[in-house]
Amino acid sequence: MKIGGTAYRTIWLEPDGGRVAIIDQTKLPHRFEIVHLASMEEAARAILTMQVRGAPLIGVTAAYGVALAMRVDASDDALGAAVAFLAKQRPTAVNLRWALEEMRRHLHPIAPKDRAAAAFDHAARLADDDVAMCKAIGVHGLEIIREIAGRKAPGEPVNVLTHCNAGWLACVDWGTATSPIYHAHDAGIALHVWVDETRPRNQGAALTAFELGSHGVPHTLIVDNAGGHLMQRGEVDLVIVGTDRVTATGDVANKIGTYLKALAAKDTGVPFYVTLPQSTIDWTLEDGFSIPIEERSQDEVLKLSGRTADGAVHLFDIAPEGCRAANPAFDVTPARLVTGLITERGICAATREGLVGLYPERGAAA
Ligand code: MRU
Repeated sequence: MKIGGTAYRTIWLEPDGGRVAIIDQTKLPHRFEIVHLASMEEAARAILTMQVRGAPLIGVTAAYGVALAMRVDASDDALGAAVAFLAKQRPTAVNLRWALEEMRRHLHPIAPKDRAAAAFDHAARLADDDVAMCKAIGVHGLEIIREIAGRKAPGEPVNVLTHCNAGWLACVDWGTATSPIYHAHDAGIALHVWVDETRPRNQGAALTAFELGSHGVPHTLIVDNAGGHLMQRGEVDLVIVGTDRVTATGDVANKIGTYLKALAAKDTGVPFYVTLPQSTIDWTLEDGFSIPIEERSQDEVLKLSGRTADGAVHLFDIAPEGCRAANPAFDVTPARLVTGLITERGICAATREGLVGLYPERGAAA
C-alpha cells in the first residue's frame, strides 16, 4: 500500500542483503521511521516492543529473525534455539508459532552451510504468500460489501466498523480486515469506516486511521464504547475484524474489546465477519478459552501518548499515582457470535465443518 505516494510493504530485505527493514509502528502516526534489524535479538525485540505487531507480520518478522540467526550459526542446535527464543516473544497470535515451525520444517533437511541463504529465501516466500492470501481475502470479502451496497440508494455508503488494526500494517500488505475495504473502495463502491480507537494502545486511532487516510478511504474515529450505540441506530452495516488465532471449531481470539462488538452486533442483527489467512487457524485447539491471552504492562492503561501543539510526542499519566491497572490484550469471541470467516479460500461458517469444507486436507486432523 502507499504512504505519501510511495508503495511499501511492512517488512523487506534491503538490497545489500544484510538488513531487514521494518516500519516502526510505535512511532506512527506522528513519525514515519524505517528501522533495520541486523540480528535475531533485534527481530525479537521488534516483536516484543511492538515496533511490528499484528498476527501475520509478527510471523514473518520471526521468520526473518531465524534467517538472521542462521547467518551467525546455522547448526541444528542454533536453529532449535532461534525458534524457541522467537516463539516466546508474544503468546496469543498463532502465526508466530506457525511461521517458526514452517522455517524449522523447511530448513532442517538443508545442510548447515546452505541454511542462511535458504532461510532468507523462505522468509521472503512467507512474506509473498501472506500478501497473496490477504489479497484473496479482499476479493472474497468484496462480494459481501458489494451485496450490501446493492441494497442501498445510489451513492449511499456502506458503513463498516472495524476494531484494532488488522490492516496492511498488521500484515505484509493489504491487511486482513482492511483488504475487503480497500478492494471495495478501489472498485468504486461508496463506503465509510467506523474506526474503534482500540484502547489501550490505540491501534485504531494511530494505525487504522493512518492507513485508511493514506489510501483515501472515508472514515471516522470513534471511542471503543460507541460501536453498540451506532449499531442500535442502524449506522453500521457490517463489522469486519481480524484475528490472532481461530480454533478448529471457529472461536476467535482478537484484540481486547472484540467480544463486546460481537455481542452488540448479534443483538442488533449486524453481520459480524472475521478475516484470516490459514496461518491464523490453530487446528490443535477445540476451545477458544484455551487460547493463551497476553497480559501486558499496566503502563499501557495508566498512560497515554500524544503529540502536543509544538510537535513533540509525550507520554501522559491519566490515573491517580499508585493506581493499579489490568491489561489483558485479547479476548475470545465464541463462534456462535460470528456470521462468517473470510479466508483466502473463501467464506465459511465459524464451525469445524465450515473450516474443513475450505481446508479439506485438515479433515483427518480436525
Ligand atoms: O496487539 P496487536 O496490535 O499485535 O494486535 C493485533 C490484533 O489484534 C489484530 O486485530 C489481529 O492481529 C489481526 S491482524 C491481521
